[in-house]
Amino acid sequence: MRPLIIKLGGALLDNKEDLTKLFVVISKYKKNYQRPLVIVHGGGSMVDALMDRLSLPVVRRNGLRVTPADQIDVIVGSLAGSSNTKLLSETKKQNIASVGLCLADGNSVKVKQISEELGYVGEAKVGDPTLINLLLNANYLPIISSIGITEEGQMMNVNADHAAVALAKTLDADLILLSDVIGVLNADKQLIESLTESQADQLIADGIITDGMIVKVKSAFEAATTLGHSIDIASWKAADKLPDLFNGKSGITGTRIIA
Ligand SMILES: Nc1ncnc2c1ncn2[C@@H]1O[C@H](COP(=O)(O)OP(=O)(O)OP(=O)(O)O)[C@@H](O)[C@H]1O
Ligand SMILES: [Mg+2]
Repeated sequence: MRPLIIKLGGALLDNKEDLTKLFVVISKYKKNYQRPLVIVHGGGSMVDALMDRLSLPVVRRNGLRVTPADQIDVIVGSLAGSSNTKLLSETKKQNIASVGLCLADGNSVKVKQISEELGYVGEAKVGDPTLINLLLNANYLPIISSIGITEEGQMMNVNADHAAVALAKTLDADLILLSDVIGVLNADKQLIESLTESQADQLIADGIITDGMIVKVKSAFEAATTLGHSIDIASWKAADKLPDLFNGKSGITGTRIIA
């Protein structure tokens, strides 16, 4: 069975109730379907809160967090440290055997600096599947933060959607992107149930899809094209609907990005 990568992002880590509910569902799903699962996570809102506490500026360009030299340590601490460990804590409560990792572990996702302008922001590339497959075969749930390390040994902040797509290619896995919005919304803030690439480009040009959602939608099309099947963008808030979504059923919840 193909592994399923569940990418978690948005304000999930700040919502204790939703977080626990989600891991109850994941635990049941794991037991019922015995499907290899991998979690990749961001944690933008937790990083923002920390930056605020430390009075460090938050700058985003095209949905990507500009990461200057004096911020990378703090961002690594937040994503690979507290965010990752927080998710691990939830698996403990549900008795799920799990391992907390970052992209650099096992060279699972390779990372290269995107540009000087963005600072320590990495582009995610296909890596080595050996370590993750080893863990999946031993029935562990890998929980992977979007922190990577370049070949030169520089720590990098990677957008977690980019990271999830690179890992999906590495593992030839299915992918679901879960955020704090129900899916992609139109100009009237209504859910768009499915999107083709040309429709998405138009919504971006019209300023209806903005910020992190531009990155997410583009990542989803890249994954859909490479993997040859649709990708769903949905909300972790819709926990009770997720098992059907994980099983690939259509018309359940969220936006389907058509390959
Ligand atoms: N058309 C749109 N429909 C839905 N959300 C949109 C749209 N345009 C912009 N957004 C924003 O995109 C956000 C989701 O992307 P964001 O990068 O903030 O979260 P994430 O990718 O789930 O989490 P993280 O970046 O921490 O991994 C939504 O919370 C919403 O504010
Ligand atoms: Mg994002």
